[in-house]
Amino acid sequence: MSEAYSSVLITGASGGIGAALAQAIAAFDPDRMVLVGRRAEPMHTLAAQLDCPTEICIADIATDSGRAGVLDQMHGIDLLVNCAGFGSFGPFDSADPDQQRRMVEVNCVAPIVFTRAALPLMRKAGRGCIVNVASGMGYQPMPFMSTYAASKAFLLHWSEGITEELRGTGVRVVTVCPGTVHTGFGAAGNIPLSEMAGVPLVTVSLDAVIASTMAAIQGRSDVTRPGLGNWVGTAVGRLAPRWLVRRVLGWAMGRDYRKLSG
Ligand SMILES: NC(=O)c1ccc[n+]([C@@H]2O[C@H](COP(=O)([O-])OP(=O)(O)OC[C@H]3O[C@@H](n4cnc5c(N)ncnc54)[C@H](OP(=O)(O)O)[C@@H]3O)[C@@H](O)[C@H]2O)c1
Repeated sequence: MSEAYSSVLITGASGGIGAALAQAIAAFDPDRMVLVGRRAEPMHTLAAQLDCPTEICIADIATDSGRAGVLDQMHGIDLLVNCAGFGSFGPFDSADPDQQRRMVEVNCVAPIVFTRAALPLMRKAGRGCIVNVASGMGYQPMPFMSTYAASKAFLLHWSEGITEELRGTGVRVVTVCPGTVHTGFGAAGNIPLSEMAGVPLVTVSLDAVIASTMAAIQGRSDVTRPGLGNWVGTAVGRLAPRWLVRRVLGWAMGRDYRKLSG
C-alpha cells in the first residue's frame, strides 16, 4: 500500500469478501491483523496462510457483548474494515423479526460502534483509514430485500457523511458498494442468487471487488462501485424517477419470489 497501515482489524474475515481482503492487505506486511467473525475454523485456516502476525477474535457482533469483545481489540488500529454483513429474501411481513433486528445490528450498529471507537486515535495520529462494505443495493429501495437494502443505504449515507467530516484530517473513510459476488452471502441469508433474474446483470467477480477496494484504500476513490453492470445499475437507481425504480424492482423481485417460493 502506498499508505502503510500497520494495525488492521477486519470484521467478516471468516469468509467471502472479508477473507479475501485480509489476504490482499496481509501482502503489505502489517505488524498486526485482527480477524473478526463467529466461525473460528475458517479464520484459523486463513491466519495460517497469512504472512503477518494475526489474532482471531470470535464475536457475534449483533450483540453488545460480542461488540465489546471487538472493542477490546481496537487499540492502535489504523485500518478498520467493516465488512461483516448479511441479508435475507422474502416479504417483510413474514420475515423472522429477530433476524431483521440482527441484520440492522450487524450491518449498521456494529460499524458505527467500531468506527466511533477507532476514530479518536486516528484523528490524533493524523492518519488512518476506515473501509465500510455497503452494497450496490444501497442506492435504491429493494422490495423483498427491504431491510437489507435499507441497512446498506444507511451505511452508504453515513459513511459518505463522515468521509467529508474527516476530509483534510489525514483519516480517510472509504465506502465499497459491490454488485452480486458469489460468496457465502446467498447461503447465509437463504437468498437464491443463482436463480434470481436480475442477478447476472449486476454480478461482479471477487477479484474485481478486492482490486477496487485496495485501490480505494490507496486513495483512488472515496466510494467504489465495482463491476460495470453494478455501476450502471446504481446510476439508474440514483437518477431514474424513484417511483419507477421502486415499481420495476417490486415487479421483478416479486416475480422471482413467487416463482422460487412455489
Ligand atoms: N456477496 C454479495 O453479493 C454482496 C454484495 C454487496 C455487498 N455485500 C456485502 O459484503 C459483505 C461481506 O459479505 P460476503 O459476500 O463476503 O458474504 P459472506 O461470505 O457470507 O461473509 C459474511 C461475513 O460476515 C460475518 N458475519 C455475519 N454475521 C455476523 C455476526 N453476527 N457476527 C460476526 N460476524 C458476522 C460472517 O462471519 P461468521 O459467519 O463467521 O460470523 C462472514 O465472515 C457484507 O457486508 C455484505 O452485505 C455482499
